Amino acid sequence: MPSTIDVSPADSFLVTPRTAVYVDSAASAEVEAIGDYAANMIASRSGAKSQRLAGGAAPDSSITLTLDPSLATLGDEGYDLTITRTRVRIASAAPAGLFHGVQTFRQLLPVAVEHPSAYQRRLIAPAVHVADSPRFAWRGAMLDVARHFLGPDDVKHFIDVMALYKLNRLHLHLSDDQGWRIEIKSWPKLTEVGGQTEIGGGAGGFYTQAQYADIVAYARSRYITVVPEIDMPGHINAALVAYPDLRCNHTAPEPFTRIGGASNTLCVTNDSIYQFVGDVVREIAAAAPTPYFHIGGDEVRSLTKEQYRGFIERVESIVTAAGPRMIGWGEIAPANIHPSTIVQHWNKDSTVLQAERGGKVILSPGPHAYMDMKYDSTTALGLKWAGFINLKTAYDWDPATLIPGIGEQSVLGVEGPLWAETVMTRQDYEYLAFPRLTAIAELGWSSARHHDWENFRRRIGAQGTRLAALGVNFARVPGVDWSW
Ligand code: ACM
Repeated sequence: MPSTIDVSPADSFLVTPRTAVYVDSAASAEVEAIGDYAANMIASRSGAKSQRLAGGAAPDSSITLTLDPSLATLGDEGYDLTITRTRVRIASAAPAGLFHGVQTFRQLLPVAVEHPSAYQRRLIAPAVHVADSPRFAWRGAMLDVARHFLGPDDVKHFIDVMALYKLNRLHLHLSDDQGWRIEIKSWPKLTEVGGQTEIGGGAGGFYTQAQYADIVAYARSRYITVVPEIDMPGHINAALVAYPDLRCNHTAPEPFTRIGGASNTLCVTNDSIYQFVGDVVREIAAAAPTPYFHIGGDEVRSLTKEQYRGFIERVESIVTAAGPRMIGWGEIAPANIHPSTIVQHWNKDSTVLQAERGGKVILSPGPHAYMDMKYDSTTALGLKWAGFINLKTAYDWDPATLIPGIGEQSVLGVEGPLWAETVMTRQDYEYLAFPRLTAIAELGWSSARHHDWENFRRRIGAQGTRLAALGVNFARVPGVDWSW
């Protein structure tokens, strides 16, 4: 829901075969690429290109994308969209805002825009003026590709759908007890051995560094930052099977391919495991530049508090020295970490300590944001330890008041994690993610002033035909009119 929207009811803009997308004459290659994306969106053929505006005003029936420094108050992701009978103008202080403005224009066009090959589409948008910017900088989804592997093309499809809802962070949970999913050249058995297992005994899989870099670049072209996670010092059984010397007793554990967690950890008192951690962090950061590196840190049961905290602090210095900002699950907050480290709340954890340090937190509360929970008792997929999460439960909470002591200024944003114990195919992932991820997207973008379940419930029905057109296997949850 945009910050402000003024509609001129009597007027509308019609895309015709003459309609062209223009960027400024001096536009960067990046802005031109957004122009090409918009040109493809309105064309009923692929390969459409934007054009450069060579002096003077845009002609009638044009869509222009303009960088406008005077809009800096809307931030890099905010935009100003004006649609009149003759023109569409999308302006922003930065490319990300232009991209989001294109998504709003897309949402204002009929669902036919999602069918690029539809013959003679009638694309008509209401005349509006929208000035818009996000509430939070972090609007994320997490895919657990460790419990079951999800191939690069399926991840890209997910990225495309995320872009429609202006989500901007894709957290990839790349390792866990049941599998290791990213090539590390200096530790090849991680994928040769650890990449070959998954829950239920399937074949697993992994991304080569080139495939991972390709996913990161694809996401970047949709203004989504990939956040790699290597979970440690627990949830690491797959790596211990591959390299038993990472364990204190130097013996290989059995592969773990069930639901649940193994209790094994890295041997945090052995200096040599920090070589392993450093190699993994550095190789992933070198494969594709990353502003963030998530170290997991959750659910460690077999270490003393001192051992656990010492590990987190030492790993923080390794990650920071490699460049990225560290992120960890709520359990890391009691360690003596830097205020610039980000803590991700998920359960009854100590995240508030990071807010007290002046640090930032990401909110993924299990009972609202965990997209792997069942919708209700009839949902075949998913788990239920955090409760059933219907669409209202996913939507109806306020990030600024959820946790006493964590106010709006401490909240970097929100993220919906999709753990993959029970999901195996793209269709399974989509069924649990949609429509609940649209609720997370709305919490992340829209101001608290616009928070209104009844209004959201009515609007979300219109997304059904759009998701269907994009081939998304969304859950037609009750209480929403999906027949639009
Ligand atoms: C988690 O769900 N263990 C972060």
